[in-house]
Amino acid sequence: MKAPIRVAVTGAAGQIGYSLLFRIASGAMFGPEQPVILQLIEAPIEKALKALEGVAMELDDCAFPLLKGIVQTSDASVGFKDANWCLLVGAKPRGPGMERADLLKDNGKIFIGQGQIIDAVAAADARVAVVGNPANTNCMIAASQAKRLPAERFTAMVRLDQNRAQTQLAKKAGVDLTAVKDIFIYGNHSPTMFPAYAHATIGGQPAATVINDNAWLQGPFCETVGKRGAAIIAARGASSAASAANALVDHVRSLVTPGAIHSIAVKSNGHYGFDANVWAGMPVRTTTPGSYEVLTNYAMDDFAKSKLAATNKELVEERAFVADMIK
Ligand code: NAD
Ligand code: LMR
Repeated sequence: MKAPIRVAVTGAAGQIGYSLLFRIASGAMFGPEQPVILQLIEAPIEKALKALEGVAMELDDCAFPLLKGIVQTSDASVGFKDANWCLLVGAKPRGPGMERADLLKDNGKIFIGQGQIIDAVAAADARVAVVGNPANTNCMIAASQAKRLPAERFTAMVRLDQNRAQTQLAKKAGVDLTAVKDIFIYGNHSPTMFPAYAHATIGGQPAATVINDNAWLQGPFCETVGKRGAAIIAARGASSAASAANALVDHVRSLVTPGAIHSIAVKSNGHYGFDANVWAGMPVRTTTPGSYEVLTNYAMDDFAKSKLAATNKELVEERAFVADMIK
């Protein structure tokens, strides 16, 4: 048996937490050979901490062989102590009629303190994945606090958008979704994101050739993927939770699987024309567990370039809006 890894999860008693923790403990995130210790962090609110106790009781009651310990705390310096993975889910979700960026001032400040504490107490190999919205900019805020951990260790999730895009392409083409490959998300986790359909394939053929409907790809496809979160809030009365948890399992699983090619939001460093200091979705290949290289070889046509410019503009505006939160 391998030594357990420590996985810190914020917002552990929330909606996403309730779908996520059981998947981590069952081995879906780190594989069937990797034991885990869950370090569950909640806001210092009586109701949340009480709910967390119930979640921990249910985790116990699952008798997961890979689960080697549970920490419950509202103290981030306890929760992130020696953590190998820090999954930052805890934040307010948006309600109907709001954009994710409307959460910036409230949620952004959570990531200042958490970024500092992770940098101070997490394991030397710590990796951070941000889900709390607006995820790209919150990730940038957390990373900006770090002196010890390099910026590339901080990633934000656009995998839910990738999964949504894959399913939409498969439905349109009338194929099993496993036939759809290489659909990657660029930019912000917001309606401006760009699902780059021109690089996707369906059954080994270019997706655009198989679908043969450019107006649909440029219009309803991009719009459906970009606004799917709002559509779920309108239908469900609450933001996506099980699919978000599933996407985080995929995000981390791909990041610990050498050779996996997938979309994550990372410090752009200028790739694809993004401002160097924003966190933007783009395709990466996992090199060694937890590390990746950005795939920079995808050519963009004029339509793609205009979409990348729009999503970059929004990320730059978000960065300016939280300038006082960035170190
Ligand atoms: P939720 O309200 O059900 O749960 C959030 C939990 O976080 C609550 O239990 C709350 O007490 C806790 N929390 C708040 N501040 C905290 C802090 N400082 N430290 C620790 N815990 C804290 O919300 P949810 O549905 O689980 O969503 C969580 C976040 O994830 C939201 O911001 C939502 O918009 C976002 N989200 C992102 C994606 C994505 O694709 N990136 C998808 C879905 C949801
Ligand atoms: C989603 O994409 O479902 C989440 O980011 C929740 C939201 O506010 O859209």
